[in-house]
Amino acid sequence: MATITVFKGDGIGPEITDAVLDILKAAGADLEFEVFRVGNQEYLENGALIPDAAFASFEKTKVLLKSPITTPIGKGFRSLNVTMREKYDLYANIRPAKSNSAVKTPFPDVDIVTFRENTEDLYVGKERWVDENTVIADKIITRRASERIIRDAFEYAVKQGRKKVTCVHKANILKMSDGLFLDIFNQVKAEYPTITAEDKIVDAVCMQLVMKPQQFDVMVMPNLYGDIVSDLTSGLIGGLGLLPSSNLGKDYAMFEAVHGSAPDIAGKGIANPTALLWSACMMLEHLQQKETAAKIRRAVDVVLAEGRETTPDIGGTGTTEGYKNAVIAHLN
Ligand code: NAI
Repeated sequence: MATITVFKGDGIGPEITDAVLDILKAAGADLEFEVFRVGNQEYLENGALIPDAAFASFEKTKVLLKSPITTPIGKGFRSLNVTMREKYDLYANIRPAKSNSAVKTPFPDVDIVTFRENTEDLYVGKERWVDENTVIADKIITRRASERIIRDAFEYAVKQGRKKVTCVHKANILKMSDGLFLDIFNQVKAEYPTITAEDKIVDAVCMQLVMKPQQFDVMVMPNLYGDIVSDLTSGLIGGLGLLPSSNLGKDYAMFEAVHGSAPDIAGKGIANPTALLWSACMMLEHLQQKETAAKIRRAVDVVLAEGRETTPDIGGTGTTEGYKNAVIAHLN
């Protein structure tokens, strides 16, 4: 029996977490849960966004299922997500976007996995005023961080029987920083002769993704492009409610939906728990509980195909609770 840490988060976080935990239990996942409330509400009541006991739990279990946390824009706190990724060196953010035949989009055959470097680039958050009208932000690209994410992308391609890895960059303008990332890509690709390797400039990639996304397979890129491009891939498959992710490091693993706390629908009972549920499936696979993950994925496919209990973000009229019950009813 594995013990995992669960962060409940803000906005729709508690609603979708409860639904996902109920499904995991009903599916017979061999898990024990240490559940913590984190985020704004926790801060207002107890003075810390993440209680010490929640950090301690993650440091013990090494596996975290995390729901979204509200990040105030501009002044205020540094993003808790960025903090978690740095503190636990969760350097590989893996975001699989796959079309589902039951969710109608103009693109029925998307199957793209984004490998986003998760610890540096502009997200190191080093911004400073140099005069009253000018701000400078540091973009950090290192050989170590670039090499390990690029290598992970190729290793994944080999293990999963994928054909191609695309490096996404802006090295035509950022000749030193993205230039280093691209140089390392070109070095590493030589070790993987069975995988087609190509590189493309990020603006061209965005255009090609909305014209002909089928051409992309595995993509690897620095932090900022990965954040933006992977949200774009979620739009191709039906929206943020369907995009899961893992954040992996050498010692720790964190699984979360790509979307945020969706304050516009919080408390209305209509949040789509699929992205967090598929993140939980990635977690089960990471924990070698692959049959349980497959069982949940099959049930989700049926519920999406039936369409009776799907939530409004993907065109349905259902509720979080109804969706959860339908998934549980189809577990077999
Ligand atoms: P968001 O992802 O929360 O919402 C964007 C739109 O997608 C909204 O219309 C929302 O209703 C919809 N949406 C998102 N997830 C959904 C779901 N599961 N079911 C149905 N509809 C869903 O992005 P937004 O509004 O920019 O950010 C809100 C807050 O979340 C901000 O404070 C932001 O910093 C934070 N955030 C946190 C993340 C995390 O904890 N991993 C990731 C992204 C944003």
